[in-house]
Amino acid sequence: MITAEEKSTGLPRIGDAAPIFDGPTTQGPISLDDFKGNWVVLFSHPSDFTPVCTTEIIALNNLQPEFKKRGVELIGLSIDSVPSHIAWIRNIEEKTGNKITFPIIADSDRYVSTLYGMIHPRQSKTHTVRCVFIIDPGQIVRAMLYYPASIGRNVDEILRIVDSLQTADKHSVSIPANWRPGDPVVIPSPDTQEKAEERMKEDYECIDWYLCKKNLSGNDGNPY
Ligand code: BEZ
Repeated sequence: MITAEEKSTGLPRIGDAAPIFDGPTTQGPISLDDFKGNWVVLFSHPSDFTPVCTTEIIALNNLQPEFKKRGVELIGLSIDSVPSHIAWIRNIEEKTGNKITFPIIADSDRYVSTLYGMIHPRQSKTHTVRCVFIIDPGQIVRAMLYYPASIGRNVDEILRIVDSLQTADKHSVSIPANWRPGDPVVIPSPDTQEKAEERMKEDYECIDWYLCKKNLSGNDGNPY
């Protein structure tokens, strides 16, 4: 009988060290190593010169100043060549006025997409699906998203995940559903009966001992 562990693909999972890669991009060769100390959003798109991908790349580019404020570098990727990427982003600038300012990896040999499990063969044997890997300054994979080729990502959600991770790390708290910076945060569950009883006496907003929220005083929960 094959154990679940044996069946595992070896692909990165939340909490793993992000696999290091080098690759050619629209801004010259990069290595993930060069980004140590920064947050990174590594995202793949299926193909240059396709409609949904174009809407996504513009939406991410428009939010890039917000990512920068939070110390986040954006890195795009598809299996198209550098000349294709260049032609695409020049066309986007010419037609829409949006100058794409982050690097896009040309993963023609599919090295990075294979390393990160970005090709889902039942969707396409040759092109990446829409993946997002959020990597922290210690180069640990902190969150992953996978969308099919036909559905454009919500780039506000990618930024919200960054805000959530940075706030959770800074304040040792958890983040409730649909949280936005400034909203109350969740206090992690108590691990003893004594702590469960203690927290009920605090000035927290509690549904019961296992679900208590608090406001982050003195700031809006946004760490940048
Ligand atoms: C698109 O970006 O529109 C797209 C790309 C690949 C497959 C399907 C849609």
